[in-house]
Amino acid sequence: MRRIARPTCLLLACAALIITGACGDDRPPLASAADAAAAGAGEPSKQADPARGRRLIAERGCIACHTVPGVGGPASKVGPPLDNMARQAYVAGVLPNTPDNLVRWLLDPPAINPRTAMPNTGLRTADAQDIAAFLLLRAGTPEKTP
Ligand code: HEC
Repeated sequence: MRRIARPTCLLLACAALIITGACGDDRPPLASAADAAAAGAGEPSKQADPARGRRLIAERGCIACHTVPGVGGPASKVGPPLDNMARQAYVAGVLPNTPDNLVRWLLDPPAINPRTAMPNTGLRTADAQDIAAFLLLRAGTPEKTP
């Protein structure tokens, strides 16, 4: 009896492992997403330019609503400070925080969440990719007020 039972147990254990593995969240950890953005590797940040992203944040009026470390401005509190995007689990509380989803949000926030107070700022995809690359480099940077 025991000789028959043992392989059956093994089989069940394997099945359990496979099922558990299949249920796991295969989303890459946020740290590696930030690393990918920093290294300029992976989508959508393949050719993203964080320095240009920083300039765009200043030029496109983001700082009217957001405090962004590394970008001067009026320290606005209309929207959340953008100081920790690489460590957040969600973008605006609705999208799992991946570089792709951050770009999606930047391109058209009301399309993601019709009730959001953040307007569509008319960014092009390349602009949003550069801004996302910059924001994902700013993990845990303490908020600086001028
Ligand atoms: C009129 C004010 C306003 C402007 C201008 C604005 N935002 Fe926002 N933004 C908000 C608000 C409010 C939220 C919070 C949205 C929500 O949770 O629904 C937000 C959320 C965000 C988030 C998600 C933050 C988080 O903690 O998850 C990012 C990233 C962001 N904005 C980037 C930008 C960038 C980049 C620009 C400029 C291109 C910009 N915003 C312009 C008001 C604004």
